Amino acid sequence: MKLTEAINFRHSTRRFTDRPVEQDVIKKIVQLAQRAPSWVNSQPWQVYCAMGDSLAQIKTAYHKEELAGNHGHPDLAVMSRDDWSPETQENMKKWRHGIVHHFETFDEAHDQMTTASNTLYNSPVILYITIPLASPDWSIFDAGAFAENIMLVATDQGLNSIPTYNSVRFPEILHRLLNVPEDERFIVGISLGYEDKSKINSYRSERRPLGEILHFCDLKITQD
Ligand SMILES: Cc1cc2nc3c(=O)[nH]c(=O)nc-3n(C[C@H](O)[C@H](O)[C@H](O)COP(=O)(O)O)c2cc1C
Repeated sequence: MKLTEAINFRHSTRRFTDRPVEQDVIKKIVQLAQRAPSWVNSQPWQVYCAMGDSLAQIKTAYHKEELAGNHGHPDLAVMSRDDWSPETQENMKKWRHGIVHHFETFDEAHDQMTTASNTLYNSPVILYITIPLASPDWSIFDAGAFAENIMLVATDQGLNSIPTYNSVRFPEILHRLLNVPEDERFIVGISLGYEDKSKINSYRSERRPLGEILHFCDLKITQD
């Protein structure tokens, strides 16, 4: 698959089939993703691959938290939507309207999204990316580049994916069940697998027109 095809084809999948993902494929994806750039080649990332029993236990533990009405507290703070810049709030609003429009009603959209979230998307695999607690903000940037590489290589391997905050909402559960050292913090979980035919998976998010985000900044030389 060409890079441009992989970039255009990648989208967030919110319901996976039960088909497992081979460990060899995961190794191939992560190894290639390691080519991501990082500050002075610090490579701050670790990857914890939850599948089989470990992932089943995470799903059960998360479900218990859901039932108890807990929203979680990810290692990267979540900011209230009202505090985001007007432009980003507008983008998020358009995305939510798009989802509602994709379904018949607001209630159906809400139900589908909640079910997807509460079941951790029926993911057969979640790759949890951590960085050391002792890291600058730059390492979060590096982990993001690494994460995008993972998703693009996965696309090239015929897999679907979604990066989620939802999967790292309860870090203490992840530390315990995945045996992750306390001096690491969770950045994101990337679900991998094969998407099913649910309507939720056919939604495609839009992007702002190029002219609204790309600014050519030629210096204007004025003659006296
Ligand atoms: C850091 C990050 C966290 C995300 N967390 C969630 C999440 O918890 N639940 C969810 O449904 N989607 C989540 N997403 C997916 C975004 O909603 C999605 O990337 C965005 O709407 C663009 O759609 P696309 O990925 O299909 O291009 C997350 C994406 C990123 C980059």
